[in-house]
Amino acid sequence: MKNSSPPLNANAISALLAAARRIGREILVLEETGSTNDVASQLGRDGVAEGAVVFAEHQTAGRGRLGRKWESVSHKGLWFSLLLRPTFALADWSRLTTWAAVGIARGMEEVLPGCHALVKWPNDIYLDGKKAVGVLSESVVGPNGYAVVGIGVNVNHTREDFPEELLSRATSLWETGGPDTTPLDRHVVAAALLRQLDALYPALDCNFASIVAEAQSRSLLMGRRITVHGPRETYEALAEALEPDGSLRVRCDDGETRTVSGGEVSISGWE
Ligand code: BTN
Repeated sequence: MKNSSPPLNANAISALLAAARRIGREILVLEETGSTNDVASQLGRDGVAEGAVVFAEHQTAGRGRLGRKWESVSHKGLWFSLLLRPTFALADWSRLTTWAAVGIARGMEEVLPGCHALVKWPNDIYLDGKKAVGVLSESVVGPNGYAVVGIGVNVNHTREDFPEELLSRATSLWETGGPDTTPLDRHVVAAALLRQLDALYPALDCNFASIVAEAQSRSLLMGRRITVHGPRETYEALAEALEPDGSLRVRCDDGETRTVSGGEVSISGWE
């Protein structure tokens, strides 16, 4: 089966979005760049309005959380970054992580009816127990401060597209759809994600509790034993709940509860 998608086209994505929208108000598609997060950040410094989105067909220096490298297989996925200028308190900008995870999960279910998209705290999206999406939020504070939310979606990858070390842990939307399906139209996927993020954006400020509740109900971790790789120590605990600010509450073996707000967690016993 042919496994290449038509090149991404900004007008084709725009045409699938509502005229009055914030997220996706301006869309750029680059053939190649270092990292779309850096391009969106430059737009932020240039004073571009919130909601601009930068896609690239290929990133030569795509990055993930915690300084990791992010592979951006050419024309197979969606590698893009949103420029945001939240007006709520800076202390609450970490909400963007939870918002992005829930919006993306909703968008994925829209394009893959019947699938269930789960959130691995803080903001990876899993399909069938494997990672399909990663999110990297970065912010610049100051009078003209802004946030950049970078999103990497494995759309039309096949097994051969993943490096050996990720084979058991990564999947794509197409693979999740099953062997009888055809590659997805990346314009349709991009538009579904942007639409869902746009629809959820007002709740970031005025009803964040509803976003946290949905992130919790979609959580891959809740009720499981996890390993918390903290800055000072690594320990096992039970993932218990999300706190109102989106951080993760865990219960340690001695009964003590702790709040995890950064770093990495993994499910104990999983690779
Ligand atoms: C992670 O899972 O660690 C986060 C991965 C984020 C990858 C995306 S791809 C688009 C944007 N540009 C980057 O350099 N990174 C993000």
